[in-house]
Amino acid sequence: MDLMDTAYDSADTLPADSPAPFDVPDGGSTVAVRGQLLWFRDDPFLVPVEHAMRYEKDGLLVCAGGKIRYCGPYGDAEGHLTADAVLVDHRDKIITPGFVDAHVHYTQTAMIGAYGEKLIEWLKKHVYPEEMKFSDRSYAAEIAHLFCDELLRSGTTTALVFCTTHPQSVDVLFDEADRRGMRIAAGKVLMDRNAPEALLDTSVERAYEQSRELIERRHRAPGTRGVYAVTPRFALACTREMLQAAGDLWTSAEGLLMHTHVSENPDEVYQVRGLFPERSGYLDVYRHYGLLGPRAVLAHGVHLTAEELDTCSGTGAAIAHCPTSNLFLGSGLFRLRDAKNPGRPVKVALGTDVGGGTAFSPLSTMNEAYKVAALGNHPLDAARMFYLATKGGATALGMDGLIGSLEAGHEADFTVLDPKATPLLARRTENGTGIVDVLFALAILGGDQAVAETYVAGRRAYRRDTGPAPRPKRTRTLAWSRYDWESDTWLPDRPTPAIGWRAPAIDAYAGALHCVYNSGSDVLHWTTFDGTEWSAPADLGFKAGPTPGVAAYGAKLYCGFVHDARLRMTAYDGEAGEWGSPQRITAAPETGFPPALAAYHGLLHVFLRDRRTEGRIHWASYDAEQDRWSEWRPLWHVASFDPVAAAPFAGRLYVMYSPGREGGEEQDLKWTSYDSETGTWDGHRVLAGTAGTARPSLTPYNGLLYACGNQWVGSELHAWTARLGPDVPEWSTPQRNTRIHPYSGYGLSMAAYNGLLYTAYFTA
Ligand code: GUN
Ligand code: ZN
Repeated sequence: MDLMDTAYDSADTLPADSPAPFDVPDGGSTVAVRGQLLWFRDDPFLVPVEHAMRYEKDGLLVCAGGKIRYCGPYGDAEGHLTADAVLVDHRDKIITPGFVDAHVHYTQTAMIGAYGEKLIEWLKKHVYPEEMKFSDRSYAAEIAHLFCDELLRSGTTTALVFCTTHPQSVDVLFDEADRRGMRIAAGKVLMDRNAPEALLDTSVERAYEQSRELIERRHRAPGTRGVYAVTPRFALACTREMLQAAGDLWTSAEGLLMHTHVSENPDEVYQVRGLFPERSGYLDVYRHYGLLGPRAVLAHGVHLTAEELDTCSGTGAAIAHCPTSNLFLGSGLFRLRDAKNPGRPVKVALGTDVGGGTAFSPLSTMNEAYKVAALGNHPLDAARMFYLATKGGATALGMDGLIGSLEAGHEADFTVLDPKATPLLARRTENGTGIVDVLFALAILGGDQAVAETYVAGRRAYRRDTGPAPRPKRTRTLAWSRYDWESDTWLPDRPTPAIGWRAPAIDAYAGALHCVYNSGSDVLHWTTFDGTEWSAPADLGFKAGPTPGVAAYGAKLYCGFVHDARLRMTAYDGEAGEWGSPQRITAAPETGFPPALAAYHGLLHVFLRDRRTEGRIHWASYDAEQDRWSEWRPLWHVASFDPVAAAPFAGRLYVMYSPGREGGEEQDLKWTSYDSETGTWDGHRVLAGTAGTARPSLTPYNGLLYACGNQWVGSELHAWTARLGPDVPEWSTPQRNTRIHPYSGYGLSMAAYNGLLYTAYFTA
């Protein structure tokens, strides 16, 4: 099965409006955690471990107001413990500062572990198609939620994160982190060459403006812990002008980070030399555009020369060492010992680089760092590994003094590690020869199961024994609304007995309004409305990924849906009162996206996005009398994964679709119509004011053609409607509809029934 399809179809997380999954230890504002405290005051690569590392065998952390107020022996804590303090006993566990993941791509969470390629091919084949999906804000929000869950499960409390070029991919991540109180650094990716156009910034100016706007809203925003990172993807994906803009952005506000990739893979290094022959090497490209210095974090650096490491040291730029990724993508072995040469040390942190990396866990990352160092003929001890994942990470991000330490005054982000997490670990650590040996066993055998609890700003945000913080439910109530002619408005939302998610599909057939929808566990359900009541939902038993499409045609109600990347068709026969068994339409292009169905001129027309051509729309028609399909024909090359809408009106077949984004910008919906007499489509026109609509719906009603959809405007989701007359070739201005409240960008469905106009959608 293709990963693009499964990633989209099987996501079982939630939209942006989910409640904060905080678990505040019972009531009191002061939390005191007793356990074995382990942290670093200094860099053990530069000073003896005994000086750098602190270990308090029976220690206590007292936290209030998000900060650590006391860190020291439990026996000396009197006077620091207020009467309202909640005491948590972890004497058998090791408490370290929360881990810092200094390089990770949240947008690659759903495609982690993609088979078979090295860097450049892997980007083209696996990464860029996945990142294109982040034009859909609700998809981005789902993944941001899953990503933050994974960080906390792994004991990571701060991460420096790649988003995509889409500004909303940055917003939803900061929203999610803010809800959890996490200190996250992230930014919009800048890239304007050598990738699919749909993913590129359309112009340097626009990319600059979008970044500035995000910096103004998100960087050190009051009440949040967010920090903005200027994020040119890497030299291969950026023109000189874009790198110059990145340099300008980086100095445009205090405390910004700069985050990019460098010298990861030999082919990449070679190609960068070809693109920038005027520069002395890969790192010199970044130096030239002012992209090196303190708070610059360069991922990988596997193939940096000795002189380039000197430059990193001299400028204060940090390297995020990403061993699971370097091994998985066959990139090479990072020379940690060279980088940490005490004569000219480079700041080094650990990065998971998910999805090139294969685990979110910093413990698993240490495990691979050890092996990479061993292949370079030096053993990397546990003290140094834990330093890299805590204070080393904080230092790389310019956040030492804030995070990465347990000392009083630091922010209360910490991780509780369980040396008895598994029977094997328990046996191994029982024989431990000291704290450094126990830490080593945790690094080599631990992984995320060794994380018992994770605290963010003094609150427990993850607890292994109760699993991840409770997930808000993914299913929503199916709601409906009716258009009221007299008042020219829609009636307020009303619920049905059905629950499900994504978008429902409705059409009138045989005296009832029928609704087919995804139950929330990717099975189709069905409910009907008789003008008064909705029927009890029935499970149709058909597995289906995204939203289905329905249309009455001939004597039946047809339903198209996608499962295993293939279009399937079934039909409800009102006379027999049954659904036929689904047929797999093998000639249809592979897809992961909802079909649109419309009856027109005696045929059933079906429109689909082909995922192999970056979302090109294909169509075919079905003749029920002959039981025959036409050929599947490509319609337009538009790089978008958003669904299509289709409806007959005034003797023509209308189609409306999102053209996706152009560079960083959401585009307005486009529409066109088909005349079966001449067999021609007319030109594509824009429905202005609909940018950000993922899924429109079209239906003829009362002599007009109606369109509706929902669009993100900033962080708000608006429903809108517009209409078109038979003689007027223009749509009315889309009207915001405040009566109906679809919960996500998956959209609504509209149909005329019984002389009235209805819409259905999932609501909160
Ligand atoms: N270089 C440019 N983009 C990427 C990416 O997404 N992952 C990795 N590992 N390297 C890159
Ligand atoms: Zn990366």
